[in-house]
Amino acid sequence: MDLTHRPRRLRQDRIRGLVSETSLEPADLIAPVFIDATATTRQQIESMPGHERVPIEESVARVEEVLDTGVEAIMLFGIPESKDATGTRAWADDGVIQEATRRITAETDAYVITDVCLCEYTKHGHCGTLEPDLRHGECETPDPSLTVDNDATLTSLRKTAVSHAKAGADMVAPSSMTDGMVGALREGLDDEGFHDVPIMSYAAKYESAFYGPFRDAADGAPAFGNRRHYQMDPANSREALREVRLDADAGADVLMVKPALPYLDIVRDIRQEFDHPVAAYNVSGEYAMLHAAAEKGWLDLEEVALESLLSIKRAGADLILTYFAEDVAERLR
Ligand code: PBG
Repeated sequence: MDLTHRPRRLRQDRIRGLVSETSLEPADLIAPVFIDATATTRQQIESMPGHERVPIEESVARVEEVLDTGVEAIMLFGIPESKDATGTRAWADDGVIQEATRRITAETDAYVITDVCLCEYTKHGHCGTLEPDLRHGECETPDPSLTVDNDATLTSLRKTAVSHAKAGADMVAPSSMTDGMVGALREGLDDEGFHDVPIMSYAAKYESAFYGPFRDAADGAPAFGNRRHYQMDPANSREALREVRLDADAGADVLMVKPALPYLDIVRDIRQEFDHPVAAYNVSGEYAMLHAAAEKGWLDLEEVALESLLSIKRAGADLILTYFAEDVAERLR
């Protein structure tokens, strides 16, 4: 056998590190944190082992736990004390995210990113104001093509992002897949002098069944219908580039793909086409399924978590939002 070409030479333990193409660091990771205005004590999230909804009073303590692992950035999600038709608690100055953000930024060095969406704040659980024909009815939709009123929703999103910035958010992350959301947020932030608050757009967000556990966690499942009128069809990849281009042109600073593992081709496509930092959201279902298999003894959780995040990075993501952030960061230290 001709041994000239022998790739195994470079797989020996002492040289693996030198030739490794991808590295994963705690600084790449963003930990999602759930703050619950209705809670008085920490509540375990059953479908997301190790994660909790914490009361506003516990928000600083929770973020300190994250920082202790070496993760420096968090993504805040809020569960408001009450919901209504348009989601007014999303932009209230004394709302759950605003209150938690003020406390966290006053007392910790965490880089605070806030999720800007309305599904946790509307009674019907959709990501915005409904079209006029739907607004007065109950949550039954006679016509399944009726959905969120795109342009009415922009006003709410803009107010929400500005209120987060006023509370001290370092970055805002619109996740509602409303057309024009990045432009509306940029304009709103700039009008108020928040020129230095970047926007991380959930630019290519798919209508995915992998969000199931999150919807339990954040109590944001749609009461009727689904989100396919605004989130992307899993069958499409060219459409993702078009979506991302619109957001990039509107001034998005970071471009996100969501979910991550089933959409690594999209991460790669965006990495190749754009110069922006690319983020990927390793979502709740991706986390829950590994935990469930590990619980049965079918997978080694630590190993599959690390391999998953490394793969997301290898595909081209610079930032990874993941429920594994704390565990993996501790392991990397
Ligand atoms: C919408 C939002 C969702 C997630 C983050 N932001 C859910 C949705 O569209 O239903 C899902 C995150 C996850 O599954 O981990 N505000």
